[in-house]
Amino acid sequence: MNPVKIGLLGLGTVGGGTVNVLKRNAEEISRRAGRAIEVSHASARELNKPRICDTTGITLTSNPAEVVDAPEVDVVVELIGGDGLAYEMVMKAINNGKHVVTANKALIAKHGNEIFAAAQKKGVMVAFEAAVAGGIPIIKAIREGLSANRIEWLAGIINGTGNFILTEMRDKGRDFADVLAEAQALGYAEADPTFDVEGIDAAHKLTILASIAFGIPLQFDKAYTEGITRITREDVTYAEELGYRIKHLGVARRTNGGIELRVHPTLIPERRLIANVNGVMNAVLVKGDAVGPTLYYGAGAGAEATASAVVADIVDVVRALTSDPENRVPHLAFQPDQLSDLPILPVDEIVTAYYLRLQVEDRPGVLADITRIFGEAGISIEAVLQKEPAEGETSVPLIMLTQRVKEQSMNQALAAIAKLDAVTGEPVRIRMESLG
Ligand code: NDP
Ligand code: HSE
Repeated sequence: MNPVKIGLLGLGTVGGGTVNVLKRNAEEISRRAGRAIEVSHASARELNKPRICDTTGITLTSNPAEVVDAPEVDVVVELIGGDGLAYEMVMKAINNGKHVVTANKALIAKHGNEIFAAAQKKGVMVAFEAAVAGGIPIIKAIREGLSANRIEWLAGIINGTGNFILTEMRDKGRDFADVLAEAQALGYAEADPTFDVEGIDAAHKLTILASIAFGIPLQFDKAYTEGITRITREDVTYAEELGYRIKHLGVARRTNGGIELRVHPTLIPERRLIANVNGVMNAVLVKGDAVGPTLYYGAGAGAEATASAVVADIVDVVRALTSDPENRVPHLAFQPDQLSDLPILPVDEIVTAYYLRLQVEDRPGVLADITRIFGEAGISIEAVLQKEPAEGETSVPLIMLTQRVKEQSMNQALAAIAKLDAVTGEPVRIRMESLG
């Protein structure tokens, strides 16, 4: 049988890694797929740039449309990124009746509903395993491995760059900007790294995970997003004194009122495995009603780790080339006409515990005033840590952990506390999850 021909859009970190893995493991891959797989065409912006892969034998062009339109190309692999040109090329490939593999979470989170509808109409597959958590086969695990379950919640460290930065800052006391520059040099970061550090990339991924976990349409615009740029060394230290680690987490939870969909720094008990996931590694905890909690761990970014997921998708597509489109695994795990309209909750409605740090005057009655406000708001205090004042200072940091409460009640209580004379500066608040 003739080899399946791949048209690659992008020869950067992931594109280069994909060429290398396909070449190195060609024999094993074809034994798995049942057909040889070869990259016949590829595009990049600058054709003379040095590459991490050998492009001998590949027809190169700076015009991605030429790859998508090449009659020999059976599967288009989109590794350009963003949702401009990538969107255009993916839609073009689908309209040309070609199957698509992509690692592009921004594209799927923002345009996936439209892309999957177009793909279904044309009877082609769009595979996107590499879009979430790099090399971890989390899409396949939730979509296929957990299909017996009613998923209750999932929570994950799903941005490698962010976790790399937090780990290096905590373990080696390194500077934020310096670690980010290293993550960029290693090929972990997005073209625009604010996507990593402001939580946008994690929100793209969480949107995709929530959709396949709960059977809801992709709704990126409703995800609550907070990044890691405001985490201070002080809070990392106090959290550790209380037995917690601060991680940047994506959380999707099914509640009676709807779905919580939120990305933010989170205190996690240090005894949880996920609290000990460091560097560029990612991990996703998924709680199903039948299986209980399950944990998936692996490299969240990088050339070959991501290529592992891209190539696995290519193999899946090749295996299914001759299958009846009606009998393929649905793109979003649930049959397209069975998606539910469960609402995504506004952030005010989410329920979580909190770590709070207040700067307060060190005098009697202050703690009583604060606890009275919390009491009136129905908020229970779990732990209090008061530090000694620094030399010559009259105010001290007061750290509190609360029990679970609706975000709206916490906002109201903090607004009242901020007005107390004895409280200086803005209260710091970080959400907490027990993940039990
Ligand atoms: P890179 O920037 O390394 O590669 C992008 C590639 O697209 C480059 O080859 C670039 O060409 C090409 N390209 C960009 N713009 C154009 C254009 N206008 N015309 C033609 N070609 C163009 O990105 P990555 O490989 O890191 O990321 C690719 C995708 O994979 C993104 O969606 C990203 O989010 C996703 N991803 C990345 C991971 C990672 O670890 N890096 C992990 C998981 C997903 P040239 O090389 O000439 O500049
Ligand atoms: N920039 C992303 C990250 C790449 O650091 O996680 C993997 O999706």
